[in-house]
Amino acid sequence: MNDNGTGTHGAVLPDTPAPRDTPLVELRRAGKSYGNVRALHGVDLTVRAGRVTCVLGDNGAGKSTLIKIISGLHRHTEGDFLVDGRPVRFGTPRDALDQGIAAVYQDLATVPLMPVWRNFFLGSELTRGPWPLRRLDIARMKETADRELRRMGIVLDDLEQPVGTLSGGQRQCVAIARAVHFGARVLILDEPTAALGVKQSGVVLKYIAAARERGLGVVFITHNPHHAYMVGDHFSVLRLGTLELSAARGDITLEQLTDHMAGGAELATLKHELSQVRGVELDALPEDLGDTFPEGTT
Ligand SMILES: Nc1ncnc2c1ncn2[C@@H]1O[C@H](COP(=O)(O)OP(=O)(O)O)[C@@H](O)[C@H]1O
Ligand SMILES: [Mg+2]
Repeated sequence: MNDNGTGTHGAVLPDTPAPRDTPLVELRRAGKSYGNVRALHGVDLTVRAGRVTCVLGDNGAGKSTLIKIISGLHRHTEGDFLVDGRPVRFGTPRDALDQGIAAVYQDLATVPLMPVWRNFFLGSELTRGPWPLRRLDIARMKETADRELRRMGIVLDDLEQPVGTLSGGQRQCVAIARAVHFGARVLILDEPTAALGVKQSGVVLKYIAAARERGLGVVFITHNPHHAYMVGDHFSVLRLGTLELSAARGDITLEQLTDHMAGGAELATLKHELSQVRGVELDALPEDLGDTFPEGTT
């Protein structure tokens, strides 16, 4: 390997695989408008293999819009979106999946009354035998689901149990293991711990760490700086659609991250409250209301 990482001969051929340090996913000055609502603007984000990129921000900050772009649900309207260093423009989530980008949403696409193993293979069932005698290969599906769940450190007593009987944390974990099994290189988790208690959140954080250990690039959306700091390698804080902070783990403490989040939440809440009051011109308010309203008065 030479200095510029292009291989032993230094020649850059059209088919040369991306150098090892090329990010899996990269957004450069990316943005998205819904009609004339600008939900996201000028956002840079990098997702690397074996790293957890946390995206934080209050409600309405643009977190969901951001991951909808990456997962193929929405197209960006500004800037660049690259996968393995190549510009892409996805039309559907299928396009993203084909590139190994999988999103696990909070309202999971699981069928509560179906057994765990069946949910694991939902939409991608294994079959055996030649057509027209082809049948579901139940034994192989159970065995594979069991093996994949164990590889992620998830041990369930009975894969026949309906997915609806699992805890919220366990359901997230089944969805994560499923995405990994079906070839995800980039795993996007939208607020996976938001509805969970402390213990269940810990379970999910453990699997986020497990996914990272397996070399996936993880995008972890959360509004909880404590959860983010437990597993994150990089932190990006969105506020009102723009990147308010982008910091590597070594460059920021949990206290600083928490301060950024708390400040943002207060400001957004205050602006929202004030917007309900007639006669208040929001644009005339100072950018940083911290000095205007001393602690305890907001
Ligand atoms: N489909 C849409 N049409 C119009 N505006 C939208 C749409 N989706 C989101 N928005 C707006 O974009 C902004 C960012 O929303 P969103 O990405 O959902 O934020 P978050 O996930 O951080 O709460 C909000 O002001 C929201 O009202
Ligand atoms: Mg959201």
